[in-house]
Amino acid sequence: MMRVIKVVSLNILLSALVLGKTQLPTFLKICHKSDTHFKQCLIDSIEALKPLMSKGIPEFGIPKCEPLRIAEVQVDLGNGPVSVKSNYRDIKVYGPSDFSIKNIKVDLDKDRLKIKLYIPRLEVNTNYTMNGKILMMPVTGTGLSFGNYTNIDATMSMAAKKIKRDGEVFYNIQECYIDFNIGHAKLRFENMFNGNTELGDAINLFLNDNWKTVASEIKPVLEEKIAEIFKKFANKIFHKYPISMLFPE
Ligand SMILES: *[C@@H]1O[C@H](CO)[C@@H](O)[C@H](O)[C@H]1NC(C)=O
Ligand SMILES: *[C@@H]1O[C@H](CO)[C@@H](O)[C@H](O)[C@H]1NC(C)=O
Repeated sequence: MMRVIKVVSLNILLSALVLGKTQLPTFLKICHKSDTHFKQCLIDSIEALKPLMSKGIPEFGIPKCEPLRIAEVQVDLGNGPVSVKSNYRDIKVYGPSDFSIKNIKVDLDKDRLKIKLYIPRLEVNTNYTMNGKILMMPVTGTGLSFGNYTNIDATMSMAAKKIKRDGEVFYNIQECYIDFNIGHAKLRFENMFNGNTELGDAINLFLNDNWKTVASEIKPVLEEKIAEIFKKFANKIFHKYPISMLFPE
């Protein structure tokens, strides 16, 4: 009797293991290491995840990233002729999941991955408050701000460590960095100077002429937040499925 029970439970255990192994979600495209088109397979596999990144995958605890939300950012612009402090709250970023992959470099020995991405456009809508001086002129404003950052070339670098768990080896992404190169930005700050349109237009013109300075302040925050999304997303998958399953020989 004991023996039978043992055999039965072992069977259940085995089938659970086997089931667990074969049950890769259909949205994951498996890439074989021996595949001569391994790189292209990876590119296709990541591209196929875009709609999921945008909508999120509740079963995986992955929240949607369209729009990406950032609670608050403080920006301190210089202290020369242009010295402006601004605060952005309730930031919504549309477009991060609309990337395309230009190139990918995989170093399986060092567990490193470098991806060159192109993001056609990030639309950043936020509430702002601004205070300071531009060329001696006091500048104040509070209201809504809109920005379109276009033609973004990005390089993402990921470094992973292998971790052993239950006799299997998994990847853990430890570092993920993104570096943006923004092609152009168009900005609009509403309600500058309490709605004085003449002064408001002048400042908007000035800020757009100097978009590179404005963009360089918001860029590190966007880079960090978007890198965080990629890292979290990748780790949700890597922590769940062992390397042997995701990248079989
Ligand atoms: C942002 O502005 C909108 C419209 O004025 C307002 O409804 C919302 O509460 C503001 N959000 C924050 C965080 O201030
Ligand atoms: C950004 O693009 C959208 C869609 O084309 C447009 O409605 C909006 O006015 C643009 N914002 C700025 C600041 O130009």
